[in-house]
Amino acid sequence: MIGVIGAMQIEIDGLKEKVENSQTVTVSGIDFVTGTIHGTDVVLAVCGMGKVFAAVCAQTMILKFQVDALITTGVAGNLSEKLGIKSVAVASSVVQHDMDLTPVGYAQGELGGINLVNIPCDKKLVSIVEHCVKAMGVNYQVGTIATGDQFINKLEQKRFITGHFQAIAAEMEGGSIGQTCYINHVPFVIIRAISDDADGSAPEDFPAFANEAAAISIEIVLDVLKEY
Ligand code: ADE
Repeated sequence: MIGVIGAMQIEIDGLKEKVENSQTVTVSGIDFVTGTIHGTDVVLAVCGMGKVFAAVCAQTMILKFQVDALITTGVAGNLSEKLGIKSVAVASSVVQHDMDLTPVGYAQGELGGINLVNIPCDKKLVSIVEHCVKAMGVNYQVGTIATGDQFINKLEQKRFITGHFQAIAAEMEGGSIGQTCYINHVPFVIIRAISDDADGSAPEDFPAFANEAAAISIEIVLDVLKEY
């Protein structure tokens, strides 16, 4: 069983349409849609925005639906010179840019308890995703995706995140889904199509391009499910 999480309806609806024998179970206000896509057992959910919703959703997929792997799909703000709107960022690792225990001796972004800054994605999943994105002919980059409970739209925020973590894209769920998977030993990967440049134009670009970007990420997930 593969779990697929998106924060917003537009990031998951295109997948829900493809589910055969679908059934819905609601837990903690989140609808979990089970069934098959391309013969693969899946559970899909729109978790809501931010790290808490994302962690609740991931933990529920792991405990209630016993997922073998978790894919996060959706949109992100661009932090890389190699990417632009509608390019794709594939996470090799995730960080939480708003995690700050530096006053008590930790590194920036270090997760107390597991003492990691970067949580690595599953290498096999990353290589399947990369293979699918390449085959689509879309511009893409593999690297660190940074997560925090902030919509990034200022140069100083971008500088902070790229300076500390060399991240290629910013979003609001991947890091907490990654942490949840890590502590439960579940393989995961994050796929994000760029909806905005995480700068002053982001508040206008995000609503203008989010639908199209979300659809690109969904196409990749469909190909990954075929190959998995
Ligand atoms: N998701 C899409 N664009 C984003 C941004 N600029 N900051 C955080 N999350 C995003």
